[in-house]
Amino acid sequence: MKIIRTKNYDEMSWRAAQILLSQLIVKPSSVLGLATGSTPIGVYEHLVRAYQKNEVDFSKMHTVNLDEYYGLAKDNPQSYAYFMNKHLFDHINVSKENTHIPSGLADDPILECKRYDERIENLGIDLQLLGVGHNGHIGFNEPSDCFTPTTHLVHLSQKTIDANARFFENRQDVPKEAITMGIKSILSAKKIVLVASGADKSSILKKMILGKVQPQVPASILQLHGDVTIVADEAALSEWSEEQE
Ligand code: F6R
Repeated sequence: MKIIRTKNYDEMSWRAAQILLSQLIVKPSSVLGLATGSTPIGVYEHLVRAYQKNEVDFSKMHTVNLDEYYGLAKDNPQSYAYFMNKHLFDHINVSKENTHIPSGLADDPILECKRYDERIENLGIDLQLLGVGHNGHIGFNEPSDCFTPTTHLVHLSQKTIDANARFFENRQDVPKEAITMGIKSILSAKKIVLVASGADKSSILKKMILGKVQPQVPASILQLHGDVTIVADEAALSEWSEEQE
């Protein structure tokens, strides 16, 4: 794992955005795996700024998002489809038909998961951007007794529901289920970039980088991938740094 330690959130966002931009400059038709949550928002702001300055062309890019809440329509302001439009897709020249997110309203979620896996397999992910949950989830692969390889419907853990409540007006509106890409699909990406910021992520980052690879800490599986870059600020890396001294 390569670790880039930054001073703060802004530098984290800029350094991670540089990696994504380089990928697109080298291969404009790249397939980017994208994440939502609060951490990558700054990365997306930098991508939009680069586009406004004519530094990058997104017209050939394809994207596959990690996850979507089950039960939310894509025009629901809490959905991840809405999030991606708001923070990135509406501001760059990506073709919307090249952007893929699991459907939160699929009548048959099992079929939707299968369809999404086929799409990922056909496209192939060049670079996957990840955040990490306090409990070590990546996408919505929650701590469990086994790693789930493929796209699946997941019951969100109480910790995740609590963490996501900040985005909702009423706590009871937080969806309890989501469709998420599986671990095998995430690991199939040629390159993985994980962003993390803030002292509240320091404990999970240490476990993820130095701990045992186990499904109880889903992000620990990243230790087995050959090209992972963690871009994190000093606060998020504080517990890991102490271990290095
Ligand atoms: C969302 C996703 C999640 C988030 C994680 C961290 O697409 O993949 O795994 O990355 O919940 O969220 P933040 O960045 O809000 O701390």
